[in-house]
Amino acid sequence: MHDPVIMQAAAALDAGQLVAFPTETVYGLGADAENPAAVASIYAAKGRPQDHPVIVHVAPGASLDYWTTGVPPEARQLADAFWPGPLTMILKRAPNIPDAVSGGQDTVGIRCPSHPVAIALLQAFKNGKGGVAAPSANKFGHVSPTTAQHVRDEFGDDPRLAAVLDGGQSEVGIESTIVDLSRLATHGPVLLRPGHISAEAIAAVIDQMPARPDTAAPRASGTLESHYAPHTPVAMQDTATLADTLARLAGAGRKVALIHYSAMPAVHAAVHLPATPEGFAHALYAALRAMDGTGADLILVEAPPQEGAWLGVNDRLRRAAHGSSGIVHGLINNTPAF
Ligand code: TXA
Ligand code: MG
Repeated sequence: MHDPVIMQAAAALDAGQLVAFPTETVYGLGADAENPAAVASIYAAKGRPQDHPVIVHVAPGASLDYWTTGVPPEARQLADAFWPGPLTMILKRAPNIPDAVSGGQDTVGIRCPSHPVAIALLQAFKNGKGGVAAPSANKFGHVSPTTAQHVRDEFGDDPRLAAVLDGGQSEVGIESTIVDLSRLATHGPVLLRPGHISAEAIAAVIDQMPARPDTAAPRASGTLESHYAPHTPVAMQDTATLADTLARLAGAGRKVALIHYSAMPAVHAAVHLPATPEGFAHALYAALRAMDGTGADLILVEAPPQEGAWLGVNDRLRRAAHGSSGIVHGLINNTPAF
């Protein structure tokens, strides 16, 4: 593609600048993965600790062997099955990959996104042979962006950001599934972050069910207890008790911003999301951002079902709500919650 906007963005990456771009999961804050200074400026712009590795995004057909080493057949099977798409694989890093990308670990996270604008950028950059290191384009610990406007809201006019490519609203809405294949021989595949591609879908391709992370699993910042969090406290409430809790909060004079999928009484502000895991995930981050701006005392989320298809959504909600336990009780009883 020779779209001038894409060519300019690719040139900015070449010059060591940052470019935000859409992917099918969330927007990324990209830099040339082989330019340590450019990667360092991602960390500076995000306010992210240096030891948190970033994912390398590659064009369709890119060589896994350029970026990684000792590639197991399972990694090639998963790439064939799910790329371009929302799957990140952790593999042993090739010696030419800078430390900055991997946070000093001996592994690298790699993914080929499916959003057409991301693919156009990756194909234009170094003729499709480059890698774009990109975390989600949000300040560290904050909600990931699913629109170009969200990215602009996060970074304002930060001079490090040469461009924000606009590709509309991200389809999937939550970050990619991360599977660790770097210790396959000893630990099997390990699911580091649940997402749209389920553990069952991975197992169907490689005949092995990814395990939940053990303590020796590679660290992932998206696995910190508190992450994906708005500024307003977030709490979850089961459907059965939600209406009663809303009445009590109203009785205590509290302003509630509600994110729900069942019919509920009117409150200060609300977003009604689809009652499917895909529909809920697609709109979740935009809903958290919108409700964060309403001046509510609390963002109350109707807890989704516990079944497997909701694993990614429940994981993000649990982290967004971390540290807010007791908040509902505190707001109802007028005592400080924490
Ligand atoms: O959907 C996504 O994955 C988005 C889009 C932009 O591609 N990216 C994203 O990046 O969510 P980020 O940096 O916000 O989250 C990537 C996660 C982090 O938790 C990071 O610690 C983990 O991937 N990660 C990256 N490289 C890793 C490695 N070598 N070992 C273990 N975890 C790694
Ligand atoms: Mg992130």
